[in-house]
Amino acid sequence: MAEYSKGLEGVIAADTKLSFIDGEKGVLEYIGIPIGQLAEHSTFEETVFLLWNGKLPSKGELADFTAKIRSLYALPDGFIDRIRAIPPSAEPMHVMRTLISMLSFYDATPNDIKPASVRDKALNMLAKAPTILAAFHRIRRGMPVIAPDTSLGLSENFLTMLNGQRPKPTMAKALDVCLVLHTDHGLNNSTFTARVITSTQSDVYSAITGAIGSLRGPSHGGANEGVMHMLNEIASVAAAEKFIQNKLEKKDKIMGFGHRIYKAYDPRATHLKVLAKALAEETGNIDLYDKSIAIEQVMLREKAAKGIYPNVDFYSATTYHCIGLPLDLFTPMFVVGRIGGWSAHVLEQLGDNRLFRPDVNYVGPHNVNYTPIDKR
Ligand code: ACO
Repeated sequence: MAEYSKGLEGVIAADTKLSFIDGEKGVLEYIGIPIGQLAEHSTFEETVFLLWNGKLPSKGELADFTAKIRSLYALPDGFIDRIRAIPPSAEPMHVMRTLISMLSFYDATPNDIKPASVRDKALNMLAKAPTILAAFHRIRRGMPVIAPDTSLGLSENFLTMLNGQRPKPTMAKALDVCLVLHTDHGLNNSTFTARVITSTQSDVYSAITGAIGSLRGPSHGGANEGVMHMLNEIASVAAAEKFIQNKLEKKDKIMGFGHRIYKAYDPRATHLKVLAKALAEETGNIDLYDKSIAIEQVMLREKAAKGIYPNVDFYSATTYHCIGLPLDLFTPMFVVGRIGGWSAHVLEQLGDNRLFRPDVNYVGPHNVNYTPIDKR
């Protein structure tokens, strides 16, 4: 019997060829390529191809893959009517969880887990997730739905559908870099969830739906919205130090800091910090960036010795805000990116599957006599 490890810390539960993380040195690679190179030179579509195929695509392969994604942007007939039936007050993460799951209704073979079929289904979810998100957002705000534009890449098309106008190239590029940086990350909680569900030979819609539920939590992907709430709560750059000190004294967790694996600066945060600064300058939000820097300085002073540094969610909050995303679309945006990684893990799990079924230490009583209800 293996030893009990609370939160499964240090437990290795799968082999993977997808992403490599060195948490002590702050390294992240996808299929061996450092994340910084992908952020600089790749696109979201190309990075997903890399993860799903274990190699960068040729020009022809990328053109085919991109064309396939674009051909799947549009929602099935009747789908928009179902979105209209959702209360406008619904949280976008709950909407994403439900509507991504609902795509299975429009699939003639939702339970087919042969690799080619899983790839098709995953591509379908990846292509439609932005369309679903933009449509829900516009409907809840009483605005007309914008049809996808298949001449545009995924990030540019999403911002066009969301806002009803083409984004500035810098904004589309920034969003694309965010998606690249968010798409895979080892056996994080939501990816583990997807692999656990897959291990029962359940379908890929169930795996991705479960993963979305996991990602929503504030300890995981939900932290990016927590960061933005915190930035909004802090009145000024000068007020940041006291705000954080008060929270630390109360033993509150500071959103966007800390990580189970990284005990050094999260390499995704390194890139997002640079991006956040450039976008904050471009969009007149430098105050937000400066507040973030002030928070980081206090945290590094107080917590770096314990290995607590900014994680991916810290600077993605400022970045998403500057791109113009409404606050409650931050975590759904993470979903759009992470579908690429979740799907890669589903495929990897299916390639060498064994049911996940850990054991548990029973710590309750034994041999307790049943007491009839009138004697309790
Ligand atoms: N602020 C202040 N203290 C922290 C923070 C934080 N953000 N994170 C960890 N700590 C402290 C804990 O209080 C604890 O201190 P103690 O030893 O004195 O009790 C110690 O560091 C270890 O923390 P754990 O919660 O046990 O670490 P764990 O690995 O279980 O949790 C987690 C990691 C959940 C990410 C945690 O750091 C956290 O809650 N961070 C804030 C939420 C967040 O940003 N989540 C996003 C992570 S990235 C992602 O999932 C996409």
